[in-house]
Amino acid sequence: MRVALAKFRRRPLFVSWNGCTLAMTVLVTGAAGFIGYHVSEALLARGETVVGVDIVNAYYDVALKEARLARLAKHAKFTLVRADIAEPEQLWAALDRFGPIKRVVHLAAQAGVRYSLQQPFAYIQANIVGHLAILEYCRRIPGFEHLVYASSSSVYGGNEKLPFSVEDRVDRPVSLYAATKRADELMSHSYAHLYGVPQTGLRFFTVYGPWGRPDMAMFLFTKAILAGEPIRVFNAGAMERDFTYIDDIVAGVLGVLRTPPTAEKPPHRVFNLGNNHSEPLLKLIKLIEQATGKTAKQIHEPMQMGDVRATFADIDPARAAFGFEPRTDIDEGVPKFVAWYREFYNA
Ligand SMILES: NC(=O)c1ccc[n+]([C@@H]2O[C@H](COP(=O)([O-])OP(=O)(O)OC[C@H]3O[C@@H](n4cnc5c(N)ncnc54)[C@H](O)[C@@H]3O)[C@@H](O)[C@H]2O)c1
Repeated sequence: MRVALAKFRRRPLFVSWNGCTLAMTVLVTGAAGFIGYHVSEALLARGETVVGVDIVNAYYDVALKEARLARLAKHAKFTLVRADIAEPEQLWAALDRFGPIKRVVHLAAQAGVRYSLQQPFAYIQANIVGHLAILEYCRRIPGFEHLVYASSSSVYGGNEKLPFSVEDRVDRPVSLYAATKRADELMSHSYAHLYGVPQTGLRFFTVYGPWGRPDMAMFLFTKAILAGEPIRVFNAGAMERDFTYIDDIVAGVLGVLRTPPTAEKPPHRVFNLGNNHSEPLLKLIKLIEQATGKTAKQIHEPMQMGDVRATFADIDPARAAFGFEPRTDIDEGVPKFVAWYREFYNA
């Protein structure tokens, strides 16, 4: 650990031209993942250099992750580090060759509520040990600017009051996944307090869109409906989600990245990033049926353990702080997702 720190200190801290600090590198963890891939593309499109970190695990289809990476690899300013964020020494050693990276978007995690019932230790490793390794990385960088990290709407647990506000109670998680995401927020707060690491946590609400995650309802439903197979609908479909289109999430991440907390003491804050609409699950199914031209065969099952009935994001603080404004409703976003799915899977 000390060796790595000494190496950081020997490196120049700024690239400067005519007295200005030039755009420098952004570290994106989880770059092979759904959101990390899109955030990396957007950063590269605006000329930033991106160092991506991902272990490319087999939680879901590795071919999809590799396909995302193949697209990123076309950019000269993208480098992938295949590393486990829960192995701190190896991670820091692998990152050392890039010099101090002062802006980090930390999206790598073991995601998914239901899988946390089957593989609880995977969540502690990736989401707790991994988060700590990123915090330790950031606090060692002289002049570190901003760590933006992924939290989740699941921290609101079974809260009944809608919409969910960042002021609401978040001490009653109903899944281990949610508990790890809340723990990340608390760990981040302590590092802001102890070491002044500037940080923003983003509670994402059901993100969807092209290159999306195969374990999520929209993907599973689309796949099954196109194949003429039944879909599992929980709680008789009496569920509501604030579905957030990926482009809106990317705009939020980039918007907040350039707005580090400066007034807050300690320099840490948390925002909801959602679409600000709670949509019935049955509406989602209807939209997929329209986009595919097929009728869903529904199998009704009781609500799953760890699941919540409704989510709905109050995004006023994000609007005020960095102009967050979601633009894509599911009527527009679902057909875009289905079109991507059909093309990618030739379905
Ligand atoms: N997609 C959503 O709706 C949603 C909602 C709330 C929160 N989030 C959070 O947003 C972040 C990104 O989610 P996503 O949907 O892109 O998920 P994803 O699973 O597609 O991406 C996560 C990536 O992290 C990588 N990863 C996992 N463990 C790792 C480890 N130990 N070391 C290095 N890499 C590792 C995986 O290989 C994967 O590519 C996650 O933190 C997730 O919990 C997502």
